Amino acid sequence: MTPLHIVILAAGKGTRMKSELPKVLHHVGGEPMIGHVLKTGAAFEPASTTVVVGHMAEKMRATLDKWPGAPGTPGMKVETVVQEPQLGTAHALLQAEPVLRDATGTVVLLYGDVPLLERETLRRLIDHHRSTGAALTALSASVDRPKGYGRIVRDSARSFVRIVEERDATDEERAITEINAGVYAFELDGLFDSLRLIATGNSQAEYYLPDLVAIYRKQGRRVEAHEITGDPLQLLGVNSREELARMNAILRDKRNQAIMASGVTLIDPATTWIGADVTIGQDTVVHPNTYLEGTTRIGANCEIHAGTRIVDSTLADNVIVQNYCVIRSSTVESGATLGPFVHIRPESVVGEEAHLGNFVELKKSKFGKGSKAGHLAYLGDATIGADVNIGAGVITCNYDGVKKHPTIIEDGVFVGTDSQLVAPVTLGKGAYVAAGSSITENVPPGALGIGRGRQVNKEGWADARKQKREAAAKK
Ligand code: UD1
Ligand code: CA
Repeated sequence: MTPLHIVILAAGKGTRMKSELPKVLHHVGGEPMIGHVLKTGAAFEPASTTVVVGHMAEKMRATLDKWPGAPGTPGMKVETVVQEPQLGTAHALLQAEPVLRDATGTVVLLYGDVPLLERETLRRLIDHHRSTGAALTALSASVDRPKGYGRIVRDSARSFVRIVEERDATDEERAITEINAGVYAFELDGLFDSLRLIATGNSQAEYYLPDLVAIYRKQGRRVEAHEITGDPLQLLGVNSREELARMNAILRDKRNQAIMASGVTLIDPATTWIGADVTIGQDTVVHPNTYLEGTTRIGANCEIHAGTRIVDSTLADNVIVQNYCVIRSSTVESGATLGPFVHIRPESVVGEEAHLGNFVELKKSKFGKGSKAGHLAYLGDATIGADVNIGAGVITCNYDGVKKHPTIIEDGVFVGTDSQLVAPVTLGKGAYVAAGSSITENVPPGALGIGRGRQVNKEGWADARKQKREAAAKK
């Protein structure tokens, strides 16, 4: 097989974003724009992937050096080359020469700010390019509103002759509705030498990559335009925050349609945000204003109520999450019920049929099967067994200001309301803790731990005080 190389242009300024973050690092559909493009490219197992950076190059490098960050792109290595200054798209591609100088095969050029481009479209473009033996194949689309795009100029025999940019086009050329998508396949053979022939004789005094079409024609090399058969929406670029929001909505709608088609009920798809890598089981119901992110896996027959955010977590079947819960990097086993207002922080496990009620926070804790914490509790660095009852207001004092300490609560323990468990501490199997206790020592299995000052009642104290005050007022 002929090797395939990917080059992604991302040096542009993104002025209209008005951002300190490079445009292509803004998120759409839960990941950086360029992440979508890298994923699309990675599907073709390219021999190399090169990103041309320029504006905010250091920030781009810092992110790309850490790639793969996206699931589904294992082991993908990304080269970055810097284009400084940015003199146009042909000049941008030329910067990839040091990476590709000794390479052979086909280069596919993509834009970092066009994240919706589909794999299938690219496959068809590459097939067209290779089956015709072309030196250059441009992806084109027939659109109702061609404004802003370069136009595909064909001769009377419908042969592809050249591309003209809108601002350099005649009125007649402007009427053409077949546009240049800006995505191309090139044969590497002779590519960089020909790029050097491109001049800047245009209204922007830039090196235009589309000029290569006319140059190749002159050289007698075959050029092709491959018209897109899929949804032209996939060619949409992002230049402003408004377009970013619109693209997010497009991705959300697409994702939600697929999720619903797989047998999940979304009460209000317009306000439900489900990441690309999230999976949800059949007959689960997701209520409005919910965010399911990262590698989250949700089982069947679950109910996720409004206002909830679940990140990188696994929920088994039949889990009910009431309103306004946050769950991060944790596991919830089947039949558990959570919320409203539960916060589950990373590395926690909620056991089968367990219940966490309003204002309960779990941090790096295991909460056993059938156990309950109905109200107002903080459980951190704790291992809690099965059938434990945690009363309202129970706090694990897990941090001494320097170190975190563990709390162990064995099966069947009952912790009375408003108790503090000063870690490290163990409550043995079946033990009781009296309400309002400060527990600083282990409670043996089956014992009752009481850790509070004994109550003293002073008879008549309140009445005496009242009389004294009244007497003072009369004076
Ligand atoms: C380009 C095409 C146009 C096509 C359109 C599709 C040219 C001259 N025109 O126009 O025919 O219809 O895309 O969207 O190529 N970039 C760099 N370095 C540069 C210049 C641009 O990396 O020096 C990057 C930008 O970051 C962007 C992409 O290349 O991702 C396209 O650049 P842009 O200036 O937006 O080109 P268009 O005017 O849209
Ligand atoms: Ca553009």
